[in-house]
Order: sequence, then C-alpha cells, then structure tokens
Amino acid sequence: MTSNIPSHSAAMPIVQRRFRLSRLVSLVALIAPLAMAQTTVRIDLTKPGLPVSPTLYGLMTEEINFSYDGGLYAELVRNRAFKNHGYTPEHWSLVQDAGGSAAMALDERYPVAGTALTTSLRIDAENASPGHRVGIANAGYWGIPVTPNTSYRASFYAKTSGAAGVPLTISIEGVDGKTVYAQAEGGRIDGQWKRYSVTLTTGANVKPTAEARLVLATESPGKVWFNLVSLFPPTHKDRPNGLRPDLMQKMIDMKPGFLRFPGGNYVEGGSVTNRFKWKETLGPIDQRPGNPGTWGYRSTDGMGLLEFLLWCEDMKAEPVLAVFAGYALNGESVPVGKELQPFVQDALDEIEYVTGDVSTKWGAKRAKDGHPAPFKLRYVEIGNEDGFEKNKTYDGRYTQFHDAIKKKYPKIKLISTVNGKDWLGQQQKVSSRVPDLVDEHYYYSPMKMMNDAARYDSYARSGPKVFIGEWAGHEGSPTTNLHAALADAAFMAGMERNADIIEMACYAPLFVNVNPGGMQWQHNLIGYNAQSSYGSPSYYAQKMFSNYLGNVSLPVQAEKVSMQTWQEEAKKETPQDVPPARQVPTMFFSATKSDQRGEIYLKVVNAIGNAQTVQVDLAGAAKVAAEGEAIVLSSAHKEDTNTITEPTKVVPVTSKASGLGKQFSYSFAPYSVTVLVLSTK
Ligand code: AHR
Repeated sequence: MTSNIPSHSAAMPIVQRRFRLSRLVSLVALIAPLAMAQTTVRIDLTKPGLPVSPTLYGLMTEEINFSYDGGLYAELVRNRAFKNHGYTPEHWSLVQDAGGSAAMALDERYPVAGTALTTSLRIDAENASPGHRVGIANAGYWGIPVTPNTSYRASFYAKTSGAAGVPLTISIEGVDGKTVYAQAEGGRIDGQWKRYSVTLTTGANVKPTAEARLVLATESPGKVWFNLVSLFPPTHKDRPNGLRPDLMQKMIDMKPGFLRFPGGNYVEGGSVTNRFKWKETLGPIDQRPGNPGTWGYRSTDGMGLLEFLLWCEDMKAEPVLAVFAGYALNGESVPVGKELQPFVQDALDEIEYVTGDVSTKWGAKRAKDGHPAPFKLRYVEIGNEDGFEKNKTYDGRYTQFHDAIKKKYPKIKLISTVNGKDWLGQQQKVSSRVPDLVDEHYYYSPMKMMNDAARYDSYARSGPKVFIGEWAGHEGSPTTNLHAALADAAFMAGMERNADIIEMACYAPLFVNVNPGGMQWQHNLIGYNAQSSYGSPSYYAQKMFSNYLGNVSLPVQAEKVSMQTWQEEAKKETPQDVPPARQVPTMFFSATKSDQRGEIYLKVVNAIGNAQTVQVDLAGAAKVAAEGEAIVLSSAHKEDTNTITEPTKVVPVTSKASGLGKQFSYSFAPYSVTVLVLSTK
C-alpha cells in the first residue's frame, strides 16, 4: 500500500455504553494549515491494483431513534396494540364532541383469540347521540401525514358488549377535529372480535399537513373494545405491511451492497429474555407480541425478519444477519455448552428461514409468510460488541456458534465482534477458531477521524478481513454536518486504498426521527419527521463514494500534503495529561477504476477552508480524456448542514470538468469532497 499520509492508530477506549447520547471524548481542533509546495498525487496504473469488494459499502440498521416504528416502517398509529404502558393507553385520547361523554381504559380480560393481542382499549360511550359523537383518537408518531389524493388502509379489531351493535366511523381529521380530511363507515360492531378494514381517501384540495389524527367514533351509546388499530399510507411497492417510500428511495440511491441487521444493541436485548426474538416477528402482524426494545421505547415488531429481507431485496443488497449470541446488554451471558445450545439452534433455524428451500421446516414457514424463494446469505455476525462482556466468554460462545453454523453452512462467512484493532476488539480474544471477518467500530470526532484515516495503510495483512460494522464522524445533531462528512470521506478514502483488507463497512446509525424525544443517539445519517426526510452531508458523501466505486483500487501516492495542527483535549478523569498536539493531513485521496465503464474515480477531500491545487499524475495510463465530470460536495462553513427545514443546503453538484489528462492540475474547493470521473475510453 502506498500512501504518504501519516498513520496514527490512537484507539480511544469506549467506556460508556447505551442510553447516552455520545461516547466521544470532547476534542478541540486547532487548524493551522502550513504553507507548503504544491501537493502532488501519483496514481499508479502500471500496477494491477487491489480488487474492491462489491459489498464494500452497506447500511447498518436497528430499532433506535424511532428507525422503524415512527420511521421506515410506514404504520402511522402509535401504540396500535396498547402494549406501550401497563396502565394507560399512551398516545390515545378521548373524543367527546358537543357534550358527548365517554371513558376509556385498558382491558386485559378479552384477548383476541388466536393472536398475540392481549390488551385492548375499552371505551364506555355513556352519552352519545347524533351530533354528540364519542370515540378514540391517535395522533401518530408526532403527527399523521396527510397529502392530497391519497388512499390510506385503516384496519382494527373491535367488539361490543350488546347484541344490538354499535356503528362506527373512521376519519383522518385535524387535531382539533374541525377539518375532516378523509372519512369512511367502519361498519356495525357486534359482540364478537372481528377485524374491520376500510380505505380512507383524501381529496384533491387537501393541503399537506401532519397536524392530524385518526379517529374511531360512534354516535351510539355502548361499550366498544378495540385492538390493533392500524393506518398505513401508500408504501414502497404497495406492500400492506410496508415501508416509507421516501426513505426507501434515499437508501436505494446509495446503492448499498448489504444491510446489517437487526443490530447493534437491538439484537442483544436489555436482557437474555428480552433479546430480539426473530420467531416472534413472523407472520400476520396480529401474531407479533412486540418487544420492549433496547433504546427506551417498545417495538411493535411490525418490522420483522421477513420485512428486513424484503428491504434487502428491494435495495438489491445482501443481508448481513446478526444473530443473538448469548450476551445481553445487562451483562448476562449464557454459559457455553448445554445452556447455550438452544440459542445456537435458534440461529440455525434463522439461517434456515432465510436460505432454506420449501422442503425445510423454516423455509416452508418463509414460503407460508409469502416468500417461497430463498434469500442469498453469505454473512452471519455472531453477536454484537461482545468486547463489553465482563465475564469474557466470547471465545467459547463464538466457537459453539461457529462449529454448528460451519457444519451446516460451510460457505457462510462468520463475523466475530472481537479480534479487531478497535478498542472493543481488543477486550477479548477469539483464539479457538479463526473468524472470516472481524467487526470494528469507530465513533470519533471529525479531527480524530481524519487523524485516523490512514489506520489501514499500515494494518497487518495476515489476519481476517475487516468489517467496519459501525462507524461515523461525530459532529452535528440530530444529523451530522459537513465537517463530519469531510472526515467520513477521509476515512472512506482510507478504506478504498486498503480494499484488500476492508471487505465491508457501514455507517451507524442510519436513521433518526428529528422530533423532540425521537432521538437516542446524537449523530445520525438520515433525518425525518412524519412528512418528509433529508440526508445529512455525510449521507451525500456516502452516496458519492458508493456510486462512484470501481472494481480495482489503484495505488495512490500523495506528496507535500499540507498539515493542520490538532490539539486533542485531555480526558476528564486525567485533565493534567494533555495529549501532544498532532499534525493531521488537510487532504485525503483514493482512486478506483471501473473496467466495465472505462473510468477512473479520483476522490479527494479538502478538509480546510482554502482551495488547494493538486498536480495529478496518472502514471502508465494509456489514455485519459480531457473532459470528465466533477461531483463536488462543499459549503462555505464546515459547520454547515442539512435540516428538516433546510434539507438541501449541502448537496453534491455535478459539473463538467475540463483540462484533464494523464497529467493535470486541479483546484479543489474549500471544505469539499470531490469525485473526479476520468474517462479512459
Ligand atoms: O449505533 C448505535 C450503537 O452503538 C449500537 O447499537 C451499538 O452496537 C453501539 O454501541
């Protein structure tokens, strides 16, 4: 590997864990670029280069920041099965119009037989008559999005006490009830639990808003019990239990090679009992009990294993399946041997659900759930962040999973959560088996990330391949800013230069609901509310790197790169130990070529506020066209960012580039990530 970028491998111990907004030690950057002679970059086409993994860039996901419920999973009703809270129907309110009166309460006496619906919401409509309606209302996840000419699927279970029955109307209306956007008759509810469904369609003149609620109401007295009240807007590919189209499109545009799911902390669970139980996430949604989640809110599990797999399929991405490995966030670990065996079997069943044909037990179940064709699965990760485990039993647990999975599925590559060179990876060792890949996690300030951007240039070539399963430059909230994006791009350039060892990488976390209370993790990639979504500058940097990626990584030699001085702050516990100031490069480079497209993608990060000119030499190139393309992400200030109200402040701009050739000089804009597309045809 050729690079003149200095390598610093100052791994920062990760001392905190969940329920905190950031693990970053606060850092201060003093940027003082030194005047230097002109920077040169030599891209060596005389050498064969390194094959680039087609799955280099992927996505990582878990239920955090209302990523699924209140996010990608398009369900609009919050607390649809009334299980969020043991005593009160959270997110539900009474409707009592014009003197109508009613009471409501949770009721566990009448579970819906044959389902996982154990708690219902009872409404006692005491005083209801024409013009005096009473009912229940749900304002969704920070509002219900209303758009013109839109059809919503509403459904619910209901029953009454009396034989006479109670007629219901269903409506989407303004929060004060004054504007009705869509309405339908829900039918006459009788004494037996039944599922009712209606379509609610808005008119052409409706003004888009999220100031809306779903109301189920009656003008007749009586008792009505409700369960699984659901409302879906149009979804990606029109799936009834589907996903939000705008968020799907954002991810599809990134061209991810894989999706790592379902965590992260979410796969581990708060305790062994509350781990992610994939078998409880299958089949009709009324069969799914949901789970307490690991980020402070309950999950409906509407986003179940099959939905994850369909999500992969829709993005043309491979699943990277994380299986529960006997270690939970409260520190519990399941003893290796007989006690761990059921969990190993559970992982084998899960792999069979994903990959088995219909003659297998779990393949048949998948077919029954609607997907007879098996999914391709090449990667399974054993657990998550086991470096945190105090009892240090991962070697034994990994071995037990490894042997069982490899015996049945010898081609599946197994990923260990330790043995990497990140701080976590060093906390335990897997020594009894050799993992195919090791998962490393890096959450750093932009300056630390840039300081670390060359870490893989000097990485040992002898060990397993690296999966950077979670990483991000941390600056800006709820989504990161341009400074973080510059650092992310610098880090990705390092991944591309070291394509022989980095097989896969995925930024984390992917999503955040930007409403108050929606965020548990401070620095995220894509933000949204009920109505719209936006990508952070880091999102666009990721998209640029993934869209312009060749199949061969070319050796890049940069010289006379100006440096910036970075003073890392002392740790809070040892304020007297001020670390020495460091010299960090201001520019970062990588180059890949696409044999298929006859193009070279030169990626350049200019991390400072001055334009910098670079002399580029494509040594050994047969031909490089004078005209090419430049895709540039930049802004006047490194703190600039995108928000829900200003979603496209920092976005890439594509323009023609001229004056290119085998040797050329190019000026890179201040605070910029640039992809130069060079044609060799
Ligand atoms: O990405 C957020 C969290 O960071 C993940 O759940 C966990 O694996 C890590 O600690």
